[in-house]
Amino acid sequence: MNDYQNILSTEQKISEGQQASIIQEEAEMACIAAARRAPSAHNAQPWRLYPDASASNATYGSYRLFYAYADKLLADPDDRDALLGMGAFYETLALAAQLEGKQAIFEPGVVQHGDGLELGRVHLQALPEGTAPDPLAPFIAQRQTNRHPYQSRPLPKGLQKELQYLGCTLFEPRAIAPLVSKASIMAWKDTRFVTDLKTWTRFQGNPPDGMTCECLNLSWLDRQALRFALWRGHLSALLACVYAQRDVYLTSRSATIAVLSAPDREPLTLFECGRRLLRAWVTINATAYSYHPISIVIDQPTVNELSSKVKNPVAIFRVGYTPKAAPWSNRRLT
Ligand SMILES: Cc1cc2nc3c(=O)[nH]c(=O)nc-3n(C[C@H](O)[C@H](O)[C@H](O)COP(=O)(O)O)c2cc1C
Repeated sequence: MNDYQNILSTEQKISEGQQASIIQEEAEMACIAAARRAPSAHNAQPWRLYPDASASNATYGSYRLFYAYADKLLADPDDRDALLGMGAFYETLALAAQLEGKQAIFEPGVVQHGDGLELGRVHLQALPEGTAPDPLAPFIAQRQTNRHPYQSRPLPKGLQKELQYLGCTLFEPRAIAPLVSKASIMAWKDTRFVTDLKTWTRFQGNPPDGMTCECLNLSWLDRQALRFALWRGHLSALLACVYAQRDVYLTSRSATIAVLSAPDREPLTLFECGRRLLRAWVTINATAYSYHPISIVIDQPTVNELSSKVKNPVAIFRVGYTPKAAPWSNRRLT
């Protein structure tokens, strides 16, 4: 090989190496962008991923995963919803990674910081050759919340089994409706619940976080009623009863109410539970059924009554079929 060929092959090697690194970086960015589509209570998006400077292998590929207290909700004092959302974020990332020929590996390591809770490290690596892709991965982009009334047509047996396998107990809507009524009345009387709604409801524009009135499926009249409650800060018992009718109606217009339980409420247990929650959600949407959480039943003291039906419930949601599409919610870019 002459000098010219030597120089050329070195240049080629560098450019091939650079190209490979750009491709890897782009694939990782695609995984992280897809992970941002994860669900979170009030669409607060409390997750942060920081490149792990201590990782020996590369500047990218390893990240530290944080729950940021800046996005903490008042009505979530024990961080249950936030940690479920963190698990849902990681599982969304893990499924999205598979579509990019990668696998996500979670290395747990809880560290308390002043401004957040570090849960551990996430490593994105090449998916080993011959690994069968996760069957849920192709459906990750279909996941969303649909707050329309549902038809009462029962869930397919296969879907019921899958949800039970993921740790859900399924109830007839009428068995849960009285609890939803109590929880909703308590919530509308609760300043923390109304303040969270005030912070995260978006009445105008195309905001990158929070919930728009379109996503909440609010009519003009519903919006005026909500504005009034936000202005008051909380409602009287009588008004709370009137407002609660909407949640009761939606509960009755469901095929099933599913309750997810956890062995305990430790941060990493809730994180793992959030991963199962996300899998249940994607499984439901992949079957063309819809999903809508009704977390007030667990946020309010009604959780004690629910606990007599299911041990340690951490999430509760409506499931059913509706032909009505729901609008897509937004996400922050960083
Ligand atoms: C842990 C958790 C709790 C939630 N609780 C509620 C709820 O009580 N009511 C509701 O309407 N949506 C609830 N949501 C749905 C979020 O508002 C929704 O995920 C977010 O606005 C983003 O919208 P998307 O799911 O359509 O992407 C919850 C989501 C998570 C992850």
